[in-house]
Amino acid sequence: MTNPLHTELCDRLGSRYPIIQTAMGWVARPELVAGTCNAGGFGFLAAGVMRADEVGPAIRRVRDMTDKPFGVNFHMFQPGAEQIVETLINERVRAVSFGRGPNKDMVARFRKAGILCVPTVGAVRHAQKMVELGVDMVVVQGSEGGGHTGAVASNILLPQVLDAVKVPVVAAGGYSDGRGLAAAITVGAVGIAMGTRFLLTKDCPVPEVTKQQYLKANVDDIIVTTKIDGLPQRVVRNKRIDAMEKASTLGLIWQSIQSGLEFKKMSGASYFDLIKSAKAMAHGGETTVWQLLMSANAPALYQRAMLGGDPESGLMGSGQVAGTIRELPTCNELIQRIMSEARARFTALGVPLDAAV
Ligand SMILES: Cc1cc2nc3c(=O)[nH]c(=O)nc-3n(C[C@H](O)[C@H](O)[C@H](O)COP(=O)(O)O)c2cc1C
Repeated sequence: MTNPLHTELCDRLGSRYPIIQTAMGWVARPELVAGTCNAGGFGFLAAGVMRADEVGPAIRRVRDMTDKPFGVNFHMFQPGAEQIVETLINERVRAVSFGRGPNKDMVARFRKAGILCVPTVGAVRHAQKMVELGVDMVVVQGSEGGGHTGAVASNILLPQVLDAVKVPVVAAGGYSDGRGLAAAITVGAVGIAMGTRFLLTKDCPVPEVTKQQYLKANVDDIIVTTKIDGLPQRVVRNKRIDAMEKASTLGLIWQSIQSGLEFKKMSGASYFDLIKSAKAMAHGGETTVWQLLMSANAPALYQRAMLGGDPESGLMGSGQVAGTIRELPTCNELIQRIMSEARARFTALGVPLDAAV
């Protein structure tokens, strides 16, 4: 019997269903990752915003809550990246995802340790570059997606990347239900990856007041701004974003300095660390002083909303799909619902399904 809902993603990542919960800074904490994995999905822990010495304990905390495999996200420009690579190899996590800065040697080290490399990309050339580096799969994020985002919508980008690379491709950006899962698999993806939809679950440890603010947003309230760090980021519009959009250049510089100092106080980072992470958040490569200063804004402002429960003066990264979400299911309720909707689509099209999937 055919089984379109049991894909290579399930076999390689070891999840029951072809559904990934993506990394989200200050959101994809151990509780959410364990909730996803226990429900049959595959979760990524967001270590890109952690200090190197916090990563091992966070991995062990996930393991206290689930015996299922999971992944970890980080990036090579964060302070302590080399130490994080060592930790991930020692801990033998199932998969890693990374943004800017990977190289062939790093990918080879992970693969030699039996760890799958599953980066997220937002453009065809990035997918090709990652495949040249030797990654196992790519997650392709269309412009609907939350956080830093590209310019091409999922419907165009996914088939483009499927044509351009030979590794399995996972669809991301704008997914929230089983119709989307069935559609992505029909186009040729091995599954879907979702950020915003998992942020809006009961298992997600973000303060309730912040989640409620997301639930009130309409599709039009989720906009792309370059005022946070100079690169396009998709966020829920709030008082903070309105102020940043209206601010003069001098006003933005002043806000950036204040937020950077607030982050320094909260994180205990040195000025050197601060500049290093600001630089990483901006581009990971050549960065103007202006972008560097703007990047200093992001960590403190995200933490205000995601940890401090202050959604109006903080930042709320979000995919457009938040504008269609009105409730907070558990991860288990969400994943079961997505799977039964996807089965219903295939059944309606006359595709026979194995009852076990
Ligand atoms: C609040 C928030 C924080 C994010 N933080 C990160 C991050 O730290 N690292 C990363 O690679 N992607 C990050 N992303 C992007 C997501 O991992 C994912 O690719 C995206 O949310 C998918 O689109 P969707 O929100 O429409 O599901 C973030 C997204 C959101 C909504």
